[in-house]
Amino acid sequence: MEGRLQIFSGNANRALAQEICAHLNVNLGRAVVGMFKNGETRIKIEENVRGSDVFVVQPTCTPVNHHLMELLLLIDALRRASAARVTAVVPYYGYAKQEKKTTGREPISAKVVANMITVAGADRVLTMDLHAPAIEGFFDIPVDHLQAGPILAEYFSAMSLLDPVVVSPDAGGVGRANAFRERIGASLAIIAKQRPTPDAVEILEMVGEIEGKTAIIVDDMISTGGTLAQAAQALRDRGAREVYACSTHGIFADHALTIVGESVLVETVVTNTIPQESGQNYGRVKVISVAPLFAEAILRIHKDLSLSALFHE
Ligand code: R5P
Repeated sequence: MEGRLQIFSGNANRALAQEICAHLNVNLGRAVVGMFKNGETRIKIEENVRGSDVFVVQPTCTPVNHHLMELLLLIDALRRASAARVTAVVPYYGYAKQEKKTTGREPISAKVVANMITVAGADRVLTMDLHAPAIEGFFDIPVDHLQAGPILAEYFSAMSLLDPVVVSPDAGGVGRANAFRERIGASLAIIAKQRPTPDAVEILEMVGEIEGKTAIIVDDMISTGGTLAQAAQALRDRGAREVYACSTHGIFADHALTIVGESVLVETVVTNTIPQESGQNYGRVKVISVAPLFAEAILRIHKDLSLSALFHE
């Protein structure tokens, strides 16, 4: 790609955007990302982007609708300002939980969001650990889908935990947990859960050897914290020596931090795809940065280099 590399950010996670810029040795693009008095989002790009290869960093985390709108309007503004290419960098892709109809008369929200990003004018998308990999297929533009697994696995490998078992907290996460297990050399266990209501969790059954082992629950997101807290308790009840957890996206909705903090979990590791309170460690939640990985991916996209090495590291 010939144009200059420029990075812009909405208000969702400026700290991550700044960190990515620092790795790439570029300044964060100047833009007003504010609000009119009537509550509408106001965008103004304040530097020349004509012919540039532009990346917009904006996870669609809480407040989701607001951050999504900032992303869409940033993309539109950049297109109209003649950027040569616009990549939507969405480290956390919101609205991913409704990616299929489970009963009648429901939307497929993840598809609606994909349409909106495309129609706004994005040429490509760079994201991480989509809740359902099929969401990639909702786009007819290229999607580069990074994984936090290798970074999280490296952290746990360095801890040299005694007799580790990696636990998937639901059937949908088995592939992710198995890849993690292979990386750190552990056994695998699987929990079957059900949701009596959308934000409640009920552990039904568990498969795998737990007694005397150190359990690491691997999940893609922590929302209410119910899944983690209940899975951790069920693991201790089955004789786990200690229980750890890791998750790419720390949403921590509602009282999730308290729920996780009061659980039997020894430590919970998340990344900074979504901004975390102090940006560093707090309580028993440890935050690991994905900025170096995003910076490398952005550089490779800009230079038309392969990204596959990043997916399998
Ligand atoms: C479920 O499919 C996901 O992988 C997570 O386990 C879930 O979204 C976590 O939600 P919560 O923290 O509200 O239990």
